[in-house]
Amino acid sequence: SDQSAFETDVWTLTRFVIETGRQAKGATGELTQLINAMLTAIKAISSAVRKAGLAHLQGLAGAVNVTGDDVKKLDVLSNDLVINMLQASYSTCCMVSEENKELIVTPQEKRGKYVVCFDPLDGSSNIDCLASIGTIFAIYKRTSEGEPTEKDALQQGNNIVCAGYALYGSATLVAFSTGAGVNFFTLDPAVGEFILTERNVRIKPKGKIYSLNEGYAKYFHPSINEYLKHKKYPEDGSSPYGARYVGSMVSDIHRTIAYGGIFMYPANEKSPKGKLRLLYECNPIAFIIEQAGGLATTGTQRILDVQPESLHQRVPFVVGSPDDVNEYLSFVKKFS
Ligand code: AHG
Ligand code: MN
Ligand code: MN
Ligand code: MN
Repeated sequence: SDQSAFETDVWTLTRFVIETGRQAKGATGELTQLINAMLTAIKAISSAVRKAGLAHLQGLAGAVNVTGDDVKKLDVLSNDLVINMLQASYSTCCMVSEENKELIVTPQEKRGKYVVCFDPLDGSSNIDCLASIGTIFAIYKRTSEGEPTEKDALQQGNNIVCAGYALYGSATLVAFSTGAGVNFFTLDPAVGEFILTERNVRIKPKGKIYSLNEGYAKYFHPSINEYLKHKKYPEDGSSPYGARYVGSMVSDIHRTIAYGGIFMYPANEKSPKGKLRLLYECNPIAFIIEQAGGLATTGTQRILDVQPESLHQRVPFVVGSPDDVNEYLSFVKKFS
């Protein structure tokens, strides 16, 4: 239809989730409730992010979290919003957040059958310089009966029921998948709804951009520096790649899906497992990237195959266009 001023049959994410939910066998509507609660939290975070400078929400909260990050005021606010909205949806039994050392067990009277692992605010080091930041989440079905335990959250990414990320950029966008491809929804602030803006998103087989923090080059494994050398001084007559790195994973990932290329947060001598956390950063993003036709690896195994052992464990993370990730893996083979 023509993009007339006012669409009268828009696909909102809410409507999309209801449609998808109804197709799920034995649908009880609980997943729809859960996703709508997450969207409410994301809208509230989006509003807080955009007035952070005005509402004295920038700067530090004065604490350090379990993975050693300085906690920002917006980290705390975002975390509280997600926990409260999700628990109020009567659809979760427990959650894992970057900002909570322990498993967050839902009060008995509010429990449902889902487990949510989330990064309430990704890229917090970029809040005060107004670079884009995001929220990341992965949803699983609980595996235990009775009292929820860490085991409910320590599931392989292969078990993800649905996952997504929000990007608080020049627009607020949600990338979302329930395992049947990736769709992009853009927030219409006037209506407060996420509108379907790109259906069944596919990543390019090969891109022209590499994205990582080269400040750690001194500490990288040789396979990384040899791969980067090939990107900068190709000997096969191909053109060198461009370099882009925001330092907010959601921004770097969204650009990688939109334009193609490779994103890396490799292990280095100072962080032997890299920095990114498996449960609430690597697994949800790996799920989305694979659903868009990309690859996601630790360098030795598929991210979604990693069997988690602890809530905040880190894994080396290399994702993006399949030809680019496979080229990187050929360097791992050559130089390991
Ligand atoms: P978070 O703000 O949720 O702690 O995540 C920050 C992560 C990720 O967003 C980004 O890719 C990475 O930290 C950047 O790390 P460096 O500053 O070491 O490059
Ligand atoms: Mn952090
Ligand atoms: Mn993060
Ligand atoms: Mn975070």
